[in-house]
Amino acid sequence: MQTTHYLETNKQRFLDELFELLRIPSISADAAYSDDVHRTAEYVKDKLIAAGADKVEICQTAGYPIVYGEKMIDPSLPTVLVYGHYDVQPAVPLELWETPPFEPTIRNERIYARGACDDKGQMYMHIKAFEAMMQTNTMACNMKFMIEGEEEVGSANLGIFCVANKERLKADVVLISDTSMLGNDTPSIDVGLRGLSYVEVEVTGPNKDLHSGVYGGAVANPINILAKMIAGMHDENNHITIPGFYDDVLDVSAEDRAELNKAPFDLEAYKKELGIADVWGEKGYTTMERTGTRPTLDCNGIWGGYIGEGSKTVLPGKAFAKISMRLVPNQSSEKTTEMFTKYFESVAPKTVTVQVRPHHGGEPVLTPTDSIEFNAAAKAMETTFGKKPIPTRGGGSIPIVALFEKELGVKSVLMGFGLDIDALHSPNESYGLFNFYKGIETIPYFYKYYSDMKK
Ligand code: BES
Ligand code: MN
Ligand code: MN
Repeated sequence: MQTTHYLETNKQRFLDELFELLRIPSISADAAYSDDVHRTAEYVKDKLIAAGADKVEICQTAGYPIVYGEKMIDPSLPTVLVYGHYDVQPAVPLELWETPPFEPTIRNERIYARGACDDKGQMYMHIKAFEAMMQTNTMACNMKFMIEGEEEVGSANLGIFCVANKERLKADVVLISDTSMLGNDTPSIDVGLRGLSYVEVEVTGPNKDLHSGVYGGAVANPINILAKMIAGMHDENNHITIPGFYDDVLDVSAEDRAELNKAPFDLEAYKKELGIADVWGEKGYTTMERTGTRPTLDCNGIWGGYIGEGSKTVLPGKAFAKISMRLVPNQSSEKTTEMFTKYFESVAPKTVTVQVRPHHGGEPVLTPTDSIEFNAAAKAMETTFGKKPIPTRGGGSIPIVALFEKELGVKSVLMGFGLDIDALHSPNESYGLFNFYKGIETIPYFYKYYSDMKK
């Protein structure tokens, strides 16, 4: 393929450009980085223009902007909408990074930086694949790009943008590289993603912090109470105890379970990689099933009382926690948040008052495996990896996938090139050079096969 040759002759420049993108700390969660997030949108815009896109625009939203661009070559050809995000997760705790998060560095053939994989590295593969197709005159589809800056904080404004721009975003399929594969010699394609319900809770005891000696033993401690409430949300089988929580969960058929468990998975290597002596989870399910097909409840953060240096003998007036629930088809984010709220209020003892504040959420999705887009992606990966990809279910969430289906009536294909070892959201996030280049090599095949199969 001509695009492969083009890639071979431009490898270093592609990497240099990605490095420049990775140097901008586009942390959407932290307002202190607001200028950087905007600067990143500008960078993406410039690169889309340089690659040959038309109508490139920074579209303002109530939050961070969406970068749009397109190349319509022939109305008789199918149109592919590429979605990605240019924002990244916070990099703290910084002291755990071997090299600074926004100074990309290569070690062992891997790019180390926040966003290296999620999603700057993967998103940028699409811009470079597009450039390669433009330069070699091999565009097989019309293309549209929509690159957002709020994915890591819940994409609150993207839905509004989609509804307001239905005509502009019209496409036959959405192509996304923001997920992982089983391994570099075990390509796979996610055909499911979990949804999310996210809440913050506040437990209030006495009207102020108290002396823990004078009052301790006589007044309920909100941290103790909250810890007990959280612990009580799983039973001895690690089932979630919220009444009705599993009611809408779609059971996976015995055949599908067997199929999912056929994917190669090395439990010992998994434990070793994470430094744990054993895995944990819902009784009766394998690790792959637990992350791919079952819902969860996790405390993401908990605080209250005194956490400074030394000790302070205090009985705190308040305790807080952030709690996330990963959802599977057919659970609803809103309904789950309601169930959680009702439950949390009902189990709170009289000695405290509680408040539940819902944050962002997202719906779970399943994408078909008997579709043209899946087959085109599978064939593209088979061509460049020399192996048929295995359909898998990803444990993470990309809330806009369900939204695209609902608002635009378009299905997505999740052709991700990351790996579990990439440490997304963790210190020392990385992305393999192999994966970056393999993505750029594979993407043009997707367009070719998709266009052929649509005929
Ligand atoms: N790219 C990830 C999602 C992902 C990663 C899916 C690996 C499958 C495999 C995405 O950027 C992400 O982190 N999403 C958030 C969702 C959110 C902040 C609403 C998540 O899953 O926590
Ligand atoms: Mn991502
Ligand atoms: Mn992410």
